Amino acid sequence: MESWDVIIPRPAKAEPLEGVLKVESLGSVTAQAGLARFKKSLIADASVMGVDLTGKGRPVRLVLSPEIKIESFVMTVDSRGVTVAGGDPAGVFYGVGAFVQYLCTAVARGLRGAVLPCCKIEDSPRFAYRGLMLDSARHFQSVATIKRVLALMSELRLNVFHWHLCDSQGFRTESKLFPELNTLGTMAPGFYTAEEIAEIRAFAAERFITIIPEIEMPGHSEGLLALHPELCCDPENPGREFCLAKRNVRTFLKKLIAEFAGLFPDSKIIHLGGDEAETTQWEKCPECRKLLKKKGYTSFRQLENDFMNDCASFVRSLGLTPVTWFTESVMERSTIIQAWRSIHELKETCKHGNRMIFSVHDQLYLDYPATPAEPFENWMLTLPESGVYTAEPYAAWEEEIGDLLLGPECCLWTETVPEHRVIPKLLPRLCAFAETAWTSSCRRTWFNYTCRRETLTACGWFDLKV
Ligand code: ACM
Ligand code: ZN
Repeated sequence: MESWDVIIPRPAKAEPLEGVLKVESLGSVTAQAGLARFKKSLIADASVMGVDLTGKGRPVRLVLSPEIKIESFVMTVDSRGVTVAGGDPAGVFYGVGAFVQYLCTAVARGLRGAVLPCCKIEDSPRFAYRGLMLDSARHFQSVATIKRVLALMSELRLNVFHWHLCDSQGFRTESKLFPELNTLGTMAPGFYTAEEIAEIRAFAAERFITIIPEIEMPGHSEGLLALHPELCCDPENPGREFCLAKRNVRTFLKKLIAEFAGLFPDSKIIHLGGDEAETTQWEKCPECRKLLKKKGYTSFRQLENDFMNDCASFVRSLGLTPVTWFTESVMERSTIIQAWRSIHELKETCKHGNRMIFSVHDQLYLDYPATPAEPFENWMLTLPESGVYTAEPYAAWEEEIGDLLLGPECCLWTETVPEHRVIPKLLPRLCAFAETAWTSSCRRTWFNYTCRRETLTACGWFDLKV
């Protein structure tokens, strides 16, 4: 492996140039207007590595360049210094991140004699959507842990934080309309106040991360329904599903969705869940049966689909785009579908023209153990880092699927993951995932990746950044 080949995710194009740049000769950072915060963070990271960039030596120049695409950057290291040029501020941010990895490996044995091999790196992402889902509904995490996760994501150039906030075990966003929901929290208590959510939103936005908040329906709602049995088919025996027929259910959910979405004013996409609802309660419910007949449906899945499309159209009426997990139902075309059980869900969705996210469990569920040495449940598969790295079955059909596939997203469900284990579950597999989302298959091999990951580990990059 070449000494300049250390960056994760691996760049689209990297060419060595003649010579080396002595790290000792670097001494300053210049930043074009609007890029001052990247200068500040670069100086801080360099300082931890023993490199002073506040003086007068050769510069690291941070610039915007209109010829470069969005989220993309060009990093040039030559005898005159370093230039990081981005197509937009996100591109500069990613380019600075790449330079920090480069510098980190160069100074791993100290400053004396440390050199940066001259090179030119041109980089841009494979997918515009590069997601991580974190379940904060089962085990709750503090604001500090959410920020650590966001910071780690941004270092790996992931740009969508899908935040699973509501499930049977907890409703984790503050509700002023229904404050009783915030008393839930069977596995770990807690909820995020409106102020904390605003703080997290700002932290994510600074790192070019979009948040997609998720509120679940019609299943996965046991805790909420225990507090509001009037929203179930049988209030004596509430279960996990909302009644699909009672008018008060849709009124309640629309109020709740509007309030929930209001906490995320810069999120243009809202996830409505929709997975794993059971039909048993609906089958026994006189009101659900009556509505099924009235609508001329033959199965309760059709009635569920009608209900989900109604909730999704309410989301659209707020000017937002809905996402749901894949089910057998067909969602109106502007709803984004997240495939999770099988690659065939992508193929199926493709026929209907909905945009898609790829999160198939056996390749991207990070709650599964990375090795058999980890504690795990008997329904889990083992998902080693290599499994995540090679998880791109969509690559074979990229032509067929085309732009409908927004990109991949890995998921950390937390039924069995308390807060202290979130980062250990993510690393190192999130690095492998990020590279599949950022770097085209033709630029990647498992062997080359592991060399870079081990080099960055040994050189202290993770200690600097996580
Ligand atoms: C899921 O794993 N139930 C989406
Ligand atoms: Zn019912």
